[in-house]
Amino acid sequence: MIMQEVMKVVISLGGIFFEDATRIKNVAVVLEELAKSHRLYVVTGGGQPARDYIKIARELGANEAICDYIGIAATRINAKLLISALHNAYPEPFAEYKEAAEATVKEGGNIAVMGGVSPGYTTDAVAAILAEYVNADIFINVTSVDGVYDADPHVYPNAKKYDKLTPKELLNIVMKEELKAGSRIVIDPVAAKMIERSGVKTIVIDGSNPRNIQDAVNGKHSGTEIRSKP
Ligand code: UTP
Repeated sequence: MIMQEVMKVVISLGGIFFEDATRIKNVAVVLEELAKSHRLYVVTGGGQPARDYIKIARELGANEAICDYIGIAATRINAKLLISALHNAYPEPFAEYKEAAEATVKEGGNIAVMGGVSPGYTTDAVAAILAEYVNADIFINVTSVDGVYDADPHVYPNAKKYDKLTPKELLNIVMKEELKAGSRIVIDPVAAKMIERSGVKTIVIDGSNPRNIQDAVNGKHSGTEIRSKP
């Protein structure tokens, strides 16, 4: 019998997955299955509700840091929604990397879920920092596009997708983006910097079919793989 290696897997789930109960349930089923063989950490994005609240706050004169805190609150609500759908998650979203890491070491088996942590970045960066902190084997960024492109494919239909990138190449692509509260980029620059620093193997995939997450953990995907050249 071939024994499967237990991996530490960090997953960043974009806010788009929390817009209806069916999508949350479908993702939860896949996560529960993965947690049977791997140690799982899931970070939830804020999605459209985060952007809507940030827009209102900005119109009221709130500065970017305050807007970021409003976004963080939305990501934590989504974390609670995911926890509601899981049978084997810690009951509250973790607010600190250390707490998430310690809980999984102590009790094992359960899924650690967390939302945002502090202003200045997005949950992609939270997931990238967590991946470094726990020495993850793999970081999977699950989003609404099927990889990293040279321009936003929703806006530019001829944009080119990258199958493979080095962390440095990823950084060069995303550094051109603006980092405002609620901004819409596939991987934020802080996350890219953390991926470069940690060297954790990172895969960007489309999550419209949650089975893609399982496939990516098992080494099969059609997204973008970010890895230092050997
Ligand atoms: P998201 O992680 O949801 O941003 O955080 P996103 O890139 O728009 O991701 P999707 O669309 O959900 O996939 C929402 C907002 O919350 C604040 C930022 O303003 C971010 O844009 N935030 C989140 C923080 O300031 N710090 C965090 O740790 C997380």
